[in-house]
Amino acid sequence: MYAAHFGLKREPFSIAPDPRYLFMSERHREALAHLLYGVRGGGGFVLLTGEIGAGKTTVCRCFLEQVPKRVNVAYIFNPKLTALELLQSVCEEFRIEVPSRGTAPSTLKDHVDALNEYLLRTHAAGHNNVLIIDEAQNLSIDVLEQLRLLTNLETNERKLLQIILIGQPELRDMLLRPELEQLAQRVVARFHLDPLGEDETSHYIKHRLAVAGLNGLIPFDREARHRIFELTRGVPRRINLLCDRALLGAYSSGRQRVDKAIVDKAAGEVFDRRAAAHARPRRIVLVAGAAGFGALALAAAGVWFAGAQRHAPAIDPPAAAASAASAAAAPASAAQRQAAASEATAAPVAAATSPAATPARASTAPPRGKPAPAASR
Ligand SMILES: Nc1ncnc2c1ncn2[C@@H]1O[C@H](COP(=O)(O)OP(=O)(O)OP(=O)(O)O)[C@@H](O)[C@H]1O
Ligand SMILES: [Mg+2]
Repeated sequence: MYAAHFGLKREPFSIAPDPRYLFMSERHREALAHLLYGVRGGGGFVLLTGEIGAGKTTVCRCFLEQVPKRVNVAYIFNPKLTALELLQSVCEEFRIEVPSRGTAPSTLKDHVDALNEYLLRTHAAGHNNVLIIDEAQNLSIDVLEQLRLLTNLETNERKLLQIILIGQPELRDMLLRPELEQLAQRVVARFHLDPLGEDETSHYIKHRLAVAGLNGLIPFDREARHRIFELTRGVPRRINLLCDRALLGAYSSGRQRVDKAIVDKAAGEVFDRRAAAHARPRRIVLVAGAAGFGALALAAAGVWFAGAQRHAPAIDPPAAAASAASAAAAPASAAQRQAAASEATAAPVAAATSPAATPARASTAPPRGKPAPAASR
């Protein structure tokens, strides 16, 4: 609506996951490298957590665009399922035929047996199999336990299924529960995707405007950008909502520039007023929280390292202990992650220009652009 007014060819701040707008911040790149590293591992769980709207699903879509050959992926993003439904979805995603029992419905065991047979067969053909579950914070304890059992499928030398759990921060908390200790011990790598910093927020805004066709001066003045960071705390989805509304506000009052006052007014329209009013104090809390988190992260890194030594002795201790971005314990040494990251570097552009990876899905059907399972590869 306002695009032409600002010299843009299209809307810059839609909250749709349009791959053309993909912005690979350092932390998004690290998260992607983490997933790519994860699929090379030998089974167990890889965790990607992050704030609501931080870009986890965006990274996952990017990952799906560049899964290495010989890796078969099952992607489930609606995990409010029973254990049987989950297994049905996993079998569907891998395109596994589950033998029927005539009129009686197939059981959990039928699915596990069929999956096991498939994993052994594809493993013998040199394939890795990865199950990705997005929104994993919605999994029930029962289903998590079933997933754990799936990671027990193995040959003498290696695990047959790698599971990547992607979810909001409560996923981490869930794994601290005593009843999930067995699963937690099978986590071989974890990464927490933090929101953008202030400079990155500015770059993100400029990037989206540039992709939308901006040629001249950025419509948000410096103070406005600072306020956007305060109000959104660097969370991309919130940035999109706020910037979109602020541009609309400037447009409707015939102005070319967005200042702090317009941003504040827009925030009152798109966010809960109480949240907007507390933007500043919240930052202080976040800083205090970050210090605590840093300490926790170091502890987590230690726990990870201990766990990694038990479960994945070939993996180096996490570079995470030294890096705030990887504070929740990354899986690989700096060199390994660097290699995975540089491998990932070319792909965002590919993903960003690929028309294949666009829409959000309403069912557990594979996304367009998702690598085909073994049957068709
Ligand atoms: N790296 C990025 N580049 C461009 N846009 C992004 C990026 N990260 C997030 N976004 C924008 O923010 C929106 C929300 O991102 P996404 O759905 O990936 O977040 P999420 O962490 O999966 O959120 P949730 O916790 O709700 O599942 C995206 O649709 C996209 O518009
Ligand atoms: Mg998501």
